[in-house]
Amino acid sequence: MNIFVLTGAGISAASGLGTFRDKDGLWTHFDPMKLATPEAFARDPNEVHAFYNMRRRNLIEAEPNAAHHALARLEAGLGARGGRLFLCTQNIDDLHERAGSQQVTHMHGELLKARCVQCNAVTLWHEDLSIETPCLSCGCAGGLRPHVVWFGELPLFMDAIYDAMLDADLFVAIGTSGSVYPAAGFVSEARGHGIRTCEINLEPSDNARRFDERRYGPASEAIPAWVKDVLTA
Ligand code: APR
Repeated sequence: MNIFVLTGAGISAASGLGTFRDKDGLWTHFDPMKLATPEAFARDPNEVHAFYNMRRRNLIEAEPNAAHHALARLEAGLGARGGRLFLCTQNIDDLHERAGSQQVTHMHGELLKARCVQCNAVTLWHEDLSIETPCLSCGCAGGLRPHVVWFGELPLFMDAIYDAMLDADLFVAIGTSGSVYPAAGFVSEARGHGIRTCEINLEPSDNARRFDERRYGPASEAIPAWVKDVLTA
């Protein structure tokens, strides 16, 4: 059996990393148009670096939760049965990897990587970034940015994502509000190819009615229970 899982900020909520659109979410405290667009970075790189430096420090202190570990078990369990888990995440944290997931597709980039706009080198980066930080590859300062996809930029790995979708027997969205495209359109893409769909979330998302099956509850409880059902079916 091949399963395509899309995760969003809700899966990392129990690890203490904020979601975006919930009450008290990140975008209720910060304006994404001032911090998460190429124009914002061109206008005030120091403010954008400070925002992502704060998020990077929080991530380094955070730990994967039971939902991340359950998906790592699902990947191993499906593989042992000749199947496949394609894990696509909108999240820029590395909690899936730290929980043991081997294949993770970060369509919105990764907070623990930096990209140089001068030479395009992408480097693992756990420290604070600033406009003075020189690129380790070309040595130029002022061009390093978080390797994350900002509003108005194209998500990454879309060809691989759509190929994996066509190969799936089941599409599952976990911890996402279904409010940002193209990820929010994946469920319709799956349905269009006759693929069964399931939403597992704290509460119904914006496109809940498009899912064949719906399970609600905190991911740290709902995902281990769902994975157990899948692997014992
Ligand atoms: N368990 C499961 N789901 C949860 C939990 C939890 N403990 N806590 C919150 N949720 C759900 C919320 O109900 C909501 O539907 O997670 C979802 C979080 O939605 P958003 O905050 O909109 O996050 P997400 O869907 O990942 O946002 C998509 O928007 O700002 C961009 O790039 C950013 O990748 C992000 C994208």
